[in-house]
Amino acid sequence: MSEKPSKYYVTTPIYYVNDKPHIGHSYTTILADVLASYHRLLGIPTHFLTGTDEHGQKVQQAADANGITPQEQCDQTVVRFQELWKRLEIQNDDFIRTTEDRHKTVVQQTLQELFDRDEIYKAEYEGWYCVGCERFFTEKDLVEGNCPECNRPVDKIIESNYFFRMSKYQDWLIDYIESNPGFIQPSFRANETLGFLKNKELQDLCISRPKSRLAWGIELPFDTEFVTYVWFDALINYISAVGYKSDEEQFKKWWPCSTHLIGKDILTTHTVYWPTMLKAMNVAMPESIFAHGWWLTGRTKMSKSLGNVVNPMDMIDSYGVDAFRYFLVAEMTLGQDASFTEEAFVKRYNSDLANDLGNVTNRVLNMISRYCDGQMPSVSKGDFDTELEEALWKETVAAADEMGPMIGNMKLDASIGLVMTAVRKINVYLQERAPWSLAKQEGTEDQIAYSLYTAAECLRVCAALLYPVMPEKMLALRTALGMADAKPQLDKLTQFGVLASGTEISQPGALFPRIEVEKKDEKPADKPKKQKQKQQQPQKKEEPSKDGLITFDQVMAVNLKTAVVLEAEKIEGADKLLKLQINLGEEKRQLVAGIALHYTPEELVGKTIVVVANLKPAKLRGVKSEGMLLAASIGDNLKLVTVEGEMGPGASVK
Ligand code: ME8
Ligand code: MG
Repeated sequence: MSEKPSKYYVTTPIYYVNDKPHIGHSYTTILADVLASYHRLLGIPTHFLTGTDEHGQKVQQAADANGITPQEQCDQTVVRFQELWKRLEIQNDDFIRTTEDRHKTVVQQTLQELFDRDEIYKAEYEGWYCVGCERFFTEKDLVEGNCPECNRPVDKIIESNYFFRMSKYQDWLIDYIESNPGFIQPSFRANETLGFLKNKELQDLCISRPKSRLAWGIELPFDTEFVTYVWFDALINYISAVGYKSDEEQFKKWWPCSTHLIGKDILTTHTVYWPTMLKAMNVAMPESIFAHGWWLTGRTKMSKSLGNVVNPMDMIDSYGVDAFRYFLVAEMTLGQDASFTEEAFVKRYNSDLANDLGNVTNRVLNMISRYCDGQMPSVSKGDFDTELEEALWKETVAAADEMGPMIGNMKLDASIGLVMTAVRKINVYLQERAPWSLAKQEGTEDQIAYSLYTAAECLRVCAALLYPVMPEKMLALRTALGMADAKPQLDKLTQFGVLASGTEISQPGALFPRIEVEKKDEKPADKPKKQKQKQQQPQKKEEPSKDGLITFDQVMAVNLKTAVVLEAEKIEGADKLLKLQINLGEEKRQLVAGIALHYTPEELVGKTIVVVANLKPAKLRGVKSEGMLLAASIGDNLKLVTVEGEMGPGASVK
């Protein structure tokens, strides 16, 4: 770091607990961990916060679908996140859950304070709500009647609610963003927010829901008929966790936050809602908000709701934690989208880790064993040409020096690339110096020793720079080089001669065994046992294969049946939904279907339709739905799938 900050406080979004974590969540958390680790190694006091967002409709719906209470849903799912973070070697200093008292108290105190100062008021509201994004939109915001952010259907809502006077901060916010260039990063995201702020009038922010509609939130202290939910609740975690309104000293120590790391999906909430909330609260702005891109499957966002997620636990089982962390950080240009494929993973693993880093490590350690009796050779320079060694060392130091500012500028992937270039240069150097050839000549012991010592020193520097990304493997490498102090210290990194001559080196075994491409689903050779177990497990049905194709068995797992509609009626407050009673042959069931804009209830009664009969029951707008009907649609046109000719209910459709 060019100028050492006095402290570093980094956060991730707090994740929803409606489902288990996937690669997208792992990515943000790994990035934050890498940043926190670098700062710690530089000796900077560091605080790394992550956690879970536990209130709101999504969690309520997930709980309903699973037939458990919202708190049970939270308690069960939070463990999935915590276990994954442990597995990924995430060293967070704190983990906040929005259902904790320490958080709820602060949210309530803040609400009361803002209400007393007339920053919050009550009004009648009419608008559209997207459950997926947990956000309200106006009629004008909608794109073809759907949510402008995620394109999913929205619900019309008319009710009394409480509002935060966000609109009055519009001009202030434009000015703040324009006069603080690093505030929103990368800069094209700042332009995105500015475009949004300059092109339309900012609305006041609806921050409540009547308990009759959603009880799973934090009760408003000034009106117990209402709760606050998701954004007004969730964003406050960044300050409630570090002592806002509870521990003045701790709050002063960490706030303002250095970086809020987020995905681009939640840019508006973090760069519009959050700064205006803080402004109203008279709290300092965070130093920066950095929005990274999305991991995609093909061309679509990997997301829980789309069901196209890659399970990080499976990747770790197959390839190990460090390789997985390395791939995510190195593969994605920070800020841009990237596509996740196992092929890309294997390719990068084999080239960067197995070929380059693994190979150079083996070469250096093997040659020290062979030519220097397995002891770290002497540091002393003799009467021989050391030009190559000096050039190599200079290049390694340059990489180390460049890395700090790069990380300061959030060019994490590029900084990793820089270190890997340095690693490759050690290999090129060894090829040129060819200690094995020197060994064939008389009186070259000192030169071989100096050559291998220099290579080992360069490797030490590279291992330290890569430590935040691959803590486990780089620790193993440092141990092999005979480093007693386990963790590297980055500010003392580029002194030459740190490795103690005469220390026994050890062989760590293959750090990154090559993955054979023909059998790419096999794990590296150092963990053969687990792989065997894995291969014996039947393939899980819910995970689509990498090429997007499903097997015959997966098709057969969907139980399609004919059904006759017995009754149909509208659902109050949801103009797209109809509630149907259907005859499925041996049983009667209730279905909720989003077809109200295309069919009247009267039209439907008596029709024979096709339904997915083995779908897990769910609640839509609080109404139970046991199955899903099939319909064809294109643009605004939607038609039910029916069967040709006479067919009674309960027939299987294959
Ligand atoms: O939005 N690629 O939680 P969430 C990259 N609770 N990153 C991804 C990703 C993908 N495909 N999918 C998810 C919420 N992420 C709120 C946040 S904060 C006060 C409240 C990551 O569970 C990325 O960091 O939907 C994204 O912003 C976050 O997960 C959203 O997680
Ligand atoms: Mg999301």
